[in-house]
Amino acid sequence: MVEINNLSYKWKDEDKDLLRIDHLKITKGERLFLKGSSGSGKSTLLGLLSGIMVPQNGTVKVLDQIISGLKPSLRDVFRANHIGYIFQTFNLVPYLSVIENVILPIHFSTVRRQRIRNMGKEPKQEAERLLQVVGLSGEAIINKSVTELSVGQQQRVAACRALLGDPEIIIADEPTSSLDQTAQEAFITLLLEECSQKQTTLFFVSHDTSFAKDFNRILELKNGSIEEFETINNTSPL
Ligand SMILES: Nc1ncnc2c1ncn2[C@@H]1O[C@H](COP(=O)(O)OP(=O)(O)O)[C@@H](O)[C@H]1O
Ligand SMILES: [Mg+2]
Repeated sequence: MVEINNLSYKWKDEDKDLLRIDHLKITKGERLFLKGSSGSGKSTLLGLLSGIMVPQNGTVKVLDQIISGLKPSLRDVFRANHIGYIFQTFNLVPYLSVIENVILPIHFSTVRRQRIRNMGKEPKQEAERLLQVVGLSGEAIINKSVTELSVGQQQRVAACRALLGDPEIIIADEPTSSLDQTAQEAFITLLLEECSQKQTTLFFVSHDTSFAKDFNRILELKNGSIEEFETINNTSPL
C-alpha cells in the first residue's frame, strides 16, 4: 500500500536532515498509530506520504506508484483520488455548508465519484449517510455553515469529507487535540469502524499515546527515524 525506501528530507535552509527513513512498509487495511513529540517531524512525514512534498533522496511509493517521482499536478490528482486527509485544523471551507464541505472531494476526483456511482448512489446520498453515522443528520444541520458548528462537530465533518468515495488511505494528523477525552475516544472508534469495514489503511498521528491501544501497529518518530515501538496485536482491534 505504502513503501518508503532510503528517504531523507530536510526543509529548505536547514543544514540537517529532519527525517531519515531507510525502510517503511505499510500493507492494506493496517491501522497505524504514529507518535512522536512536537516538532519531531510527524506532519512532515505525512506530507511526504501524501505527495504534498517530495524527499531530497529516496522514494515514496503508494499503491504501486512512485509518487515522489511525479510532477506536482499529478501528485495532487493522485492524492485527491486515493488519500483522505484529516488536518489538525480541519481545513473546512468556511463559506460552504456542512454537506457541501463533505461533497467537496468529488469535485477533484473522478475516481471517488465513480466509486460512489458504483454503489448505485449519488454523492449527496453517501455524504448524508456518513454524516448520519457521525451523528450529524437532518436538513437543519447539514445545510448550516460549518462556521456555526462546535469544534467536535467540525472534526466529524472533516472525517466525513476524508472518507467520502472510499479513498484507499486515510491520514489523520492529530485531529483530536482540541477535544475532551470522551469525544476523542468516540471519534477514534468511529474512524476505526469505518476504516475496518472498507479495509481502508489508516495512518493516525497523535502525541497522545492513550489511544494507541486501539490500533494494530504503533510507530514512533524519534531523532528523524521510525521505530517500531510495540505491536499489541496483529488482528482487528474491533
Ligand atoms: N513549512 C515548513 N517550512 C520550514 N520548516 C518547517 C515547515 N514545517 C515544519 N517545519 C519544521 O520541521 C520540524 C518538524 O515539524 P513538524 O513536521 O510539523 O513536526 P510535528 O508534526 O511532529 O510536530 C520543525 O522543526 C518545524 O519547524
Ligand atoms: Mg504536526
